[in-house]
Amino acid sequence: MQYDIKNIKLAEEGLRKINWAKKDMPVLQGIAENFKKKKIFKKVTIGACLHVTAETANLIIALKEGGANVALCASNPFSTQDDVAAALVKYYKVPVFAIKGENTKKYFSHINAVLDAKPNITMDDGADLLSVLHSERPKQVGNVKGGTEETTTGVTRLRAMAKEKALHYPVIAVNDSMTKHFFDNRYGTGQSTLDGIIRATNKLIAGSVFVVAGYGWCGKGLAMRARGMGANVIVTEIDPVKAIEASMDGFRVMKMTDAAREADFICTVTGNTSVVSIDVFKTIKDGCIVSNSGHFDVEIDLPALAKITKQKKVLRNMVEEYELKNGKKIFVLAEGRLVNLSCAEGHPSSVMDMSFANQALAVEYILKNYKNLSCEVHILPEVLDRKIAVLKLKSLGIRIDTLTKRQEKYLSGWREGTI
Ligand code: NAD
Ligand code: ADE
Repeated sequence: MQYDIKNIKLAEEGLRKINWAKKDMPVLQGIAENFKKKKIFKKVTIGACLHVTAETANLIIALKEGGANVALCASNPFSTQDDVAAALVKYYKVPVFAIKGENTKKYFSHINAVLDAKPNITMDDGADLLSVLHSERPKQVGNVKGGTEETTTGVTRLRAMAKEKALHYPVIAVNDSMTKHFFDNRYGTGQSTLDGIIRATNKLIAGSVFVVAGYGWCGKGLAMRARGMGANVIVTEIDPVKAIEASMDGFRVMKMTDAAREADFICTVTGNTSVVSIDVFKTIKDGCIVSNSGHFDVEIDLPALAKITKQKKVLRNMVEEYELKNGKKIFVLAEGRLVNLSCAEGHPSSVMDMSFANQALAVEYILKNYKNLSCEVHILPEVLDRKIAVLKLKSLGIRIDTLTKRQEKYLSGWREGTI
């Protein structure tokens, strides 16, 4: 078996992490039990390009237990947990191609190594695997029945491909399930982004001015948690509705160039490019800590920053000081790559339980339905989304009310109004 990881000797520590995460992933475990009994993925090869974490390992193990061959590479050069990668190779015989800190050339050679396994299903977090397959290995596209996509930015890219008729198989937008973005994007990113910033810097959040760029699902979670830790939170937006929402949620809202003047921390979560731009670097407060938790490392315009920088040095692991020509110093975390997975361990397992339950059911759904699905982006049927919610509630020991016959009739009728 071929693989490319940092060090196989890390496997034991990785196995401990995988087992620790498993305890908080009961919904995925339940689905895995079913896969194991029915071996529904026999003769299926899955090419997965995901953050190589303990939670991902549990997903890959579930798919393998269902009979699949799985090859795995990283969906970001900085997000791999090397010990987990080693455990997947040593104890589960998964060909893993991922090393934390790999350069871009290596990153893409790892994607190609996964494509060499000739997948029938692709699994993406950001759409890089599917994109390389379509643009560089078009002859192989015909082998693929369908794909899944984990994150907002990946779904945006795929919708753009479908619009241009450049997408040649159906993809399930796992991100768009309610049991994914309501929880993973909001509570997962909210907590793990702060975790990453704190682990990298050991700075106090309380009393600081913390600027969140983007008030979507991730931004809402981050703003809420930063406020919870005592920060004075400012939100920046380009969408007028989201800006009102942030304002009515009690946050100050302003332009980024104004927010930067008083920011101790700026964190971007927009999925957009150059949000912290050259104009922002001109107004930014001396000593500001800048990071990103959006999918790609384009939200902070680092090439523009380099042009106005006198010298750059590494101060701590994942913390780089940029000394500007005007004398100010700015600290950039993880070279602008997603801070929660680069400087911490990503979302907690409990929230990834639902995201990866969606991934697992999406693979099953594609295999059963690919012949009837158009080459577009689809969402998982609501009945499966709600099934995941029901299983999660059960695992949390939370019971809820159910509609009575009388209530069902009332809600579906129109005759009963003012009495
Ligand atoms: P979303 O679409 O819900 O929200 C993005 C928000 O950013 C929108 O409200 C949009 O109006 C705003 N925005 C766009 N351009 C902006 C700009 N120039 N300035 C200020 N605001 C701007 O998306 P989301 O689900 O919150 O995801 C955001 C990003 O985070 C995506 O790249 C997604 O893939 C990524 N993501 C990361 C993690 C993680 O683990 N770090 C998890 C989930 C999603
Ligand atoms: N995305 C965000 N957090 C993650 C995690 N813990 N594992 C895999 N993908 C993630």
